[in-house]
Amino acid sequence: MKKEVKPIPFLYPIPIVLLGVKIEQRVNFTTIGDVAVMGLNPPLIVVSLHENHFSTQWVRTIKQFSINLPVQEMLSRVDFCGMVSGKDEDKSNIFQWNTTPLYPNVPLIEESPANLICTVLQEVQVEKRCIFISNIVQTWLEEDLIDKSLNQWSPIAYGLDNRYYTIGEVIGTGYKEGQKWKLKA
Ligand SMILES: Cc1cc2nc3c(=O)[nH]c(=O)nc-3n(C[C@H](O)[C@H](O)[C@H](O)COP(=O)(O)O)c2cc1C
Repeated sequence: MKKEVKPIPFLYPIPIVLLGVKIEQRVNFTTIGDVAVMGLNPPLIVVSLHENHFSTQWVRTIKQFSINLPVQEMLSRVDFCGMVSGKDEDKSNIFQWNTTPLYPNVPLIEESPANLICTVLQEVQVEKRCIFISNIVQTWLEEDLIDKSLNQWSPIAYGLDNRYYTIGEVIGTGYKEGQKWKLKA
């Protein structure tokens, strides 16, 4: 039996990523779960940031940012970047980072196996949430992990129970499992 609860965005799993921005020599990494794919072609994502976050003003100004996928070994630093604001503490040295020649204002975390460089296409504000619809202009992937199961990436997911998770077993293949249903019918 189901029970109606208050309206919450009950979608699982929530990927946890680090959003990075850079102005001059200062960089800032913010932990976010409000990130979603909006399409593969063109490659689009959307991120939602609270208007008061340190990163938000930078994304608004520079209109560029990075999305860095963390792995389990980075968990305490990931959580820390979600607890402490760049307004109060310099988060530049928590991770080793570099930049690419075309996007010198976008810091990429070296130990993240995947980094996306994003440019803002549109901003929509809903109450205190600044929602940035963004284009992915560069994607950098750890060579050894390309084509490997996500188990080997050990990504970090989050639940509305305030717990961090990682990916479980592979249970099927996209565009193939449906054939089994068709055969049954
Ligand atoms: C697991 C987790 C997920 C979070 N997701 C978001 C999010 O999606 N959007 C957001 O604005 N803040 C989110 N936060 C809160 C910010 O990361 C936090 O307020 C951070 O200190 C802001 O940093 P800044 O001021 O340096 O940008 C999250 C925090 C945690 C721990």
